[in-house]
Amino acid sequence: MNHFFDVDDIGSVELALARARSIKAHPRKGYTEGDRTSIGLLFFNPSLRTRLSSQRAAQNLRMDVVVIDVGSESWKLEFSDGTIMNGASAEHIKEAAGVMGAYFDFLAIRAFASLEDRDLDYAEPVLTAFMKYAGVPIINMESSTGHPLQAFADLITINEFKKTERPKVVLSWAPHPRALPHAVANSFAQWMNRASVDLIITHPEGYELDPKFVGSAQVQTNQSLAFEGADFIYAKNWSSYQDYGQVLYQDSSWMINQEKMELTNQAYFMHCLPVRRNMIVSDQVIDSPNSLVIQQAANRVISMQTVLSMLLEQKSSE
Ligand code: CP
Repeated sequence: MNHFFDVDDIGSVELALARARSIKAHPRKGYTEGDRTSIGLLFFNPSLRTRLSSQRAAQNLRMDVVVIDVGSESWKLEFSDGTIMNGASAEHIKEAAGVMGAYFDFLAIRAFASLEDRDLDYAEPVLTAFMKYAGVPIINMESSTGHPLQAFADLITINEFKKTERPKVVLSWAPHPRALPHAVANSFAQWMNRASVDLIITHPEGYELDPKFVGSAQVQTNQSLAFEGADFIYAKNWSSYQDYGQVLYQDSSWMINQEKMELTNQAYFMHCLPVRRNMIVSDQVIDSPNSLVIQQAANRVISMQTVLSMLLEQKSSE
């Protein structure tokens, strides 16, 4: 693995899950794997879980970690080629990435979608530039189109709690007051397509995701039908992909409540967090014993530590 950008970089998902299980059982076993290595965690956007779990994972491997909020704690960066830099950006990504690559063995980046220009967002300008100019392995901590560390943690959680060999997993759109990116939903679908689960995606018409990520999942616009017999309900809001970045409506009837959970096979409730209570999910559901939101967040340390361990192994073999 040269970079960890999406599921294609992990190799066998089953092998990655086995490695994650082993790391979870003995989180400090590889305590010296990262000795005398360093990682820079670069945030272009806010974070609670990713920021803390990534530091925790690196510290478990005894790596040196530095965290920086790009833009507020550093110069604002320019990504366009050939531009006359007479605006707000004081430094070009070509120099900034090269400099940071000289300071660290690995760089992890969070850079959300603008939700203004679909072609630009889906070309992943920030992550692509770092992969091009930094000269060190890049880890995706949520880009315009994907959040693979979250999806990997979600898959670890599903494997820990599943009661059947091939559970029915439902990814459900739920209402939110603001336009949100597609990254979590895209990656969740992408990883579930590689896993031993039956994936159903349910959303109102107009919220179809990029078919590249939907893959072989069944799509159902009737939420109640989708929930019937489900083993896991994964709630998430996303804005329109077709009418790019738009909130088409905020139909509160799509909120996950107890009445809908009664349609399922006593399903577990999942969400990546942060979550807006009584918009996305009712208090009753998220506070129930079937809610896995804390376990998912805890597994963010395991997904990051697994990825770092694989990258360190690759580095030590070079
Ligand atoms: N789920 C997740 O990535 O949380 P943060 O945005 O707080 O990092």
